[in-house]
Amino acid sequence: MHFWGRGRFFLIVVAAFFLFTACSGNATPATFVSSFTSISSATSTPRNSPGANFAAQPPATGIVQMYREIPEPAQPVKREVPLPSRSGHTETVNSKSADFAGTESEPGRDFASKSSEAVDCSEEKCVALTFDDGPAPTTTPKLLDILAREEVPATFFVLGSQVEKYPEIVKRAALESHEIGNHTWKHDRLTSLPSKAARKDLDKTNRMIEKASGTAPTLLRPPYGSTNKKVAKVAKQSGLAVILWDVDSRDWEHRDPKKTVKEANAAQDGSIILLHDIHDSTIGAVPNVIKALRKQGFSFVTVSDLVAGAKPGESHFRAHR
Ligand code: NI
Repeated sequence: MHFWGRGRFFLIVVAAFFLFTACSGNATPATFVSSFTSISSATSTPRNSPGANFAAQPPATGIVQMYREIPEPAQPVKREVPLPSRSGHTETVNSKSADFAGTESEPGRDFASKSSEAVDCSEEKCVALTFDDGPAPTTTPKLLDILAREEVPATFFVLGSQVEKYPEIVKRAALESHEIGNHTWKHDRLTSLPSKAARKDLDKTNRMIEKASGTAPTLLRPPYGSTNKKVAKVAKQSGLAVILWDVDSRDWEHRDPKKTVKEANAAQDGSIILLHDIHDSTIGAVPNVIKALRKQGFSFVTVSDLVAGAKPGESHFRAHR
């Protein structure tokens, strides 16, 4: 087969693959869903409605398709973080070390004096930094060091399977005033699971987080931001509010610290910013993300402090001001 013949054949195969994926809605590593169908406008208040009380927002419903968290296939893979199979979610880090005990972190440092409880978001501009898909043994401890140094509280949406492997990292994060939320056991798309399986997944992850941190989570970040009424109902049964985001750093996609800072800097008062603590490029960006947002006058709080009063089953993608 000469070059153009092979090229055409390849294009047909790719087109057929994308068509199949679009129809089936299954998670596959090669697809990238950029459609951002925001929460049904019939059930949510406009973002900038003045004086809107966030806690009084009705639960958002409708299917929310956010950006897939799939890495660029072209990215060099030096080491794979042991994320679960079938998740369509292979992530890489650039370190050979897989041993938390071998890192230079100092677990248990407390900075409660500067915890988000001390910040009054009715008086100050607030944002919440959220980090998904960890804990990762090489990157998360480095991030915790930075957050401790900067005295910035964050929210970690962790995978139960990763917590099982690295409970000490989660324990440390909780001790250092960070919030720990549920990101499912192994990054399954909850909208694709039967309710019973979804419930089992969330409860198992809740138990693992409680075992590691001492506190059961109250927040769920559904993988891929993929949620609907069924997921909200299951989340309610598991005691979890559904937390999405309004600012996507797209750190998993471009792996560029400068772009991560630029995207995160688009935050407004009440924003929830999506980041991933499994990429070295994100960890490298965090000091400048903090610096840039501080320059804009923002204070940092956990998600629960930002959307105080979020009830199980409710969906929130930011706090309205
Ligand atoms: Ni994720």
